[in-house]
Amino acid sequence: MSGSSVTGQTVVITGGAGFIGSHLADALVETNDVIVLDDLSTGARENVPDGATFVKGDVRDPATVAEVTDGVDLIFHEAAVVSVEQSIDEPEFCHDVNFDGTLQILEAARREDARVVFASSAAIYGEPTSLPLTESEPVAPQSPYGIDKCSADQYLRTYHDLYGLETVALRYFNVYGPRQTASDYSGVISIFREQAQAGEPITVDGDGTQTRDFVHVADVVQANLRAATTEHVGTAYNVGTGEETSIRTLAETTQRVTDSDSPIVHRDPRPGDIAHSRADVTKARQRLGYEPSVSLEDGLATLVGE
Ligand code: NAD
Ligand code: UD1
Repeated sequence: MSGSSVTGQTVVITGGAGFIGSHLADALVETNDVIVLDDLSTGARENVPDGATFVKGDVRDPATVAEVTDGVDLIFHEAAVVSVEQSIDEPEFCHDVNFDGTLQILEAARREDARVVFASSAAIYGEPTSLPLTESEPVAPQSPYGIDKCSADQYLRTYHDLYGLETVALRYFNVYGPRQTASDYSGVISIFREQAQAGEPITVDGDGTQTRDFVHVADVVQANLRAATTEHVGTAYNVGTGEETSIRTLAETTQRVTDSDSPIVHRDPRPGDIAHSRADVTKARQRLGYEPSVSLEDGLATLVGE
């Protein structure tokens, strides 16, 4: 799906210099007036496409947010501290960015009567009672990150119900793809790939039987574009693939597709880690017309070829 379904709008992408936000900016920049707000804490200026206006600033700062959102039609709110592990190390800082930052964006949207599409997370579900996870699964987050995403997700619905704001929360599962950089707090695919290509041990936390639903960033962009125009607002959608992969299998697949001699080593399990995760995407399929299109095997192969 191209960016052509969203045209002629003034669009703010918070976190638009980051992994997911910059792919969204790419999809929108040709047919819209795109403004990226990012503090470059993990993002990179060079990820922002030519033609987009870049503002270096913090989503927690009301004056910056007011200036950037003046006259906006549509806001994609991607800026956040994305690591579950970092939120356990630094709960107060993560709460400020992930919760207070989101409230700043919602208030700006209320002033401007702008639509907000929010990067929510599968982390809000915590340990599932059954799989696959539907949106009606009870929320039971088990990390500060999950709690803040959960509150923000509920705030979006409430801003729709109370103020008539057009809001959509997209509950991303585990997103991967080009421009996801490896660091201690990055997504597992970027870490395993870097380890394998450097010939370093691939570090599996715990026994590696924990599972995730890995979704390619192209499909996440697709879901965002559809959420930007749907009439079904004031609600949340899972964005995954419906497939589940264990971390041990991921490590072995990474070894194979990178043709790496790296050994797989096991470390202690990660505190607050979720054992299993797999999306039911029926709601997004039916109401948004979302269709996941990239298999993990193909997605990993493309990454390695980069
Ligand atoms: P990322 O770290 O690449 O992107 C986040 C961006 O936000 C970065 O460019 C960073 O510099 C910016 N940022 C952070 N704090 C900021 C602040 N206070 N003010 C302004 N900008 C700030 O990570 P990503 O994977 O692209 O994540 C994008 C969004 O998707 C996040 O909200 C994340 O929680 C959510 N999400 C990601 C995944 C995943 O698997 N990657 C899954 C579920 C949800
Ligand atoms: C990820 C996202 C989070 C998102 C959530 C949605 C990142 C950094 N986190 O969290 O923003 O909201 O998905 O489901 O993108 N692991 C290893 N070895 C490593 C690193 C990780 O075994 O070197 C394991 C972890 O213990 C965990 C799994 O891989 O079991 C996934 O970890 P991670 O990529 O950090 O993602 P989540 O915590 O699921």
